[in-house]
This record gives sequence, C-alpha cells and structure tokens, in this order.
Amino acid sequence: MAPSPDSARRLPASPRIMIVGLGDLGSAVLEFLAREPAVGPILVASRNATRGERRVNLARAGATAQGFTTSIRFAQLDLDRPDDLAELVAREQPDIVLSTATRQTWWLPDLLPPEQAAQLRRARFGVWLPLHLGLTLKLMQALRTADYRGIALTAPFPDVVNAVLDKIGLAPDCGVGNVEEIATKVLLTAARNLRQPVENVRVTLVAHHALVSAAFEGSDRRLPPYFLRVVSGGEDVTEAAGGERLLRVPYPLPPGPAINFLTAGCTVRLIRALCHEADTEVHAPAPEGLPGGYPLLASRSGIRLAPIDGLTHEEAVAINEASHAFDGIECIEPDGAVIFRPEDVEVLRRALGYDASSLKPEEADDRAGELMAKLREFAGRAAVDLDRAWQAARIS
Ligand SMILES: NC(=O)c1ccc[n+]([C@@H]2O[C@H](COP(=O)([O-])OP(=O)(O)OC[C@H]3O[C@@H](n4cnc5c(N)ncnc54)[C@H](OP(=O)(O)O)[C@@H]3O)[C@@H](O)[C@H]2O)c1
Repeated sequence: MAPSPDSARRLPASPRIMIVGLGDLGSAVLEFLAREPAVGPILVASRNATRGERRVNLARAGATAQGFTTSIRFAQLDLDRPDDLAELVAREQPDIVLSTATRQTWWLPDLLPPEQAAQLRRARFGVWLPLHLGLTLKLMQALRTADYRGIALTAPFPDVVNAVLDKIGLAPDCGVGNVEEIATKVLLTAARNLRQPVENVRVTLVAHHALVSAAFEGSDRRLPPYFLRVVSGGEDVTEAAGGERLLRVPYPLPPGPAINFLTAGCTVRLIRALCHEADTEVHAPAPEGLPGGYPLLASRSGIRLAPIDGLTHEEAVAINEASHAFDGIECIEPDGAVIFRPEDVEVLRRALGYDASSLKPEEADDRAGELMAKLREFAGRAAVDLDRAWQAARIS
C-alpha cells in the first residue's frame, strides 16, 4: 500500500487536494470541497479539458457566490500516460489524491430497455471489475514512480479493487463511500425508530459493497455477512432500533448518477476528518487494502481501523472476505488474480458474448475495452446508442 503518514509526515492543516477524474462523482466532490473551509487549494486533473475548465469555473463561481474563496485549478491529464501524473504530482505536491477515474460508470446498463437491463442485472457487480481496476492500477503505479508520500483515496469499487492492488503492493490508503453510505442510512433509520436526534446515535458497521443495494432497495433475501452495533445513551440499542431490519428496510434513492451526492458527502466527511487534529469516527472501504468496509478513525495523523468491542480484526476481515461472493467474486488469489462466480460469468457470456472467468490485474485494460465494446454492441441490437444516452443522463 501507499505509505500512510506517520507522525513525521502529518497532513498540514489545510491540505492540498488533487482530484483525478472529473466525471459525475468527481464533480459532486469538487462542488462540496469548494465549500469546505478546512481544505487547501484544489487541483482537478482529468482528460477532457473543455469540460474540466467549465466544471472548475462552475465550482469556483458557485463557491465564491456562497462566500468561499477556495483556490481551484484544472490540469489536463490522461491516466493512460502515467508519467504525466507522476510529473504533475511531483510538481504540485498534493497532500491528498482522490481518484474517481474509471473507464465506465456503474449505472450505464440501466440506460438499456427494461428487458436488456434486467438481463444484465442478473450478474452481480463484481464481473464489471475490469472497468474499475485498470485506471486505479495506473494511478497507484504513477504515485509510486513519483515517490508520493501523501494520502491516496479511491472511489472505483474499492472493496475489491483495492484488495486486489494490495496483493501486488499497490493498495491506496483507503477507499471512499459504500460502507459509509450504508452506515448513514442505518443512522437515519435507527434515530427515527428510537425517536432520537441523529447526534445521540452512534453506528458501528463492518460491511462490504455487496450490501449496498439491499440496504437501499430493500431485500428479504439472505444478506451478505456484516457486523452492526447501534449505541445510544451509552447503551447497546441495536435490537431496540430495529436490528437487521435497519439494513433490510428500503430507503429509496433516485436512480443513476444522483446517488453521487451521497457518495460525495461520505468522501468529504473523510477528507474533512483528515484536516483535523482530533480523531473523527468515520466508515470507509478498503483501509490499507483490506477487503470491504470498516469503522475507522481519521485525523491529520492518518487513517486507522477503529477498535470494535467484541469483534477482532480477523473477524472483521473474515466478514468482508466472505462477502466477496455476494458481489460475484469467488476469491482473490495471492498474485491479485480474481476468480469470478460461474453464474455471473454465464450471465455476461449469454448476454454479451463476453467470457472471462478470471482477471489478472495486468489484463484489466484489455478486458475493459472488450467489455465496453460488447456492451455497446448489445445496446445497439436494442437500438440504444449507449454513449449518447449516457451524455444525456449525466449530471456533470
Ligand atoms: N465507492 C463508492 O461508494 C462509489 C459511489 C459511486 C461511484 N463510484 C465509482 O466511482 C467511479 C466514478 O464514477 P462516475 O459516476 O463519476 O463515473 P464517470 O462519470 O464516468 O466519471 C469517470 C471519469 O473518469 C475520467 N477518466 C476516464 N478515463 C480517464 C483517463 N484515462 N485519465 C483520466 N481520467 C479519466 C473521465 O474524465 P474525462 O471526462 O475528463 O475524460 C470520466 O469523466 C466509478 O468507478 C464508480 O463505480 C463509487
């Protein structure tokens, strides 16, 4: 993993932030960070300069109108030229690098007609791993080349991507989102059930990305394993608050990219914690490349696992290891190769003619290219121009 800051390399009070990849999630994070007094200058690096400059102008103007004076700049960057990132990082010396760069966003299949979308939805998220792995691998290789010593945070499917990268010594410091999104939903639901303000309720959750859709859409099926504790007034009130129903009861959200406002809120919560002297309790996926998500303590001294009363570190990791299967991942081999569940492989084979039962990290880009091409052919057969539909549906 990237070295996390020890006491000699503590984050400064107003850390310089670099956002890599300015899509829908990156744009939402930018808008929120531009209004976050604790952060220092923000540099946004992405491929599309016209879009990027406009997005940066919008964030700067909106934040200024709202009374914030954060410095925000744009730099053109293509992660397929990793030396350019290494140079940029060496020149700009960011304290926190957040990557949201991905080959293709997760909600694209939802733009297909209902029949085709339902066909693809039978495959669990893990089989789309090539789309999310390749650019994070390139990012981490470039940060290694630049001898980057700050914090590296990543958004693309961190529960699995970062666990794969850990096997080859390239794990980011931490992921963002997922478990924190579920913990937030549980907090709101528990506080309502207990008739308490959210400030009086504390949630401790160990959970994997595989639990996200059940937690928001609702489910009466077997859930992936998890650990949940709700405390209020110093008492364990997990059962009184609703127990497992806290995870199962639906909390409907808009479909598609609007959910990025929630992920961005979780991301900014973590970055804000990294700006402060005292520890803040947060949740995030993949600290130090661990699989799945955990409760953490974050401060200017870095990110570390929060101790959990009654649950050992090994038990928490085992919960998340066992959850991989619920995302269609059979296992991650010691060399980082990922073996997918046969039933999920079969869904993509039948629908797209894409047939891959395993993935080595170095294959991610080629596989992503093939998967994206076959998805577009599939969409074309249903008379959908996927890229045009995507551009029309984006929020950024
Ligand atoms: N952890 C969570 O809770 C969570 C929640 C939501 C989303 N996500 C993940 O976050 C990632 C981003 O999602 P999104 O909806 O924001 O996707 P998106 O709108 O497609 O944005 C991705 C951006 O990546 C950039 N990019 C692509 N190739 C690049 C390259 N070679 N070099 C530099 N930048 C490149 C693109 O920037 P240009 O436009 O400049 O080309 C694109 O706008 C996805 O992996 C998604 O699954 C995670």
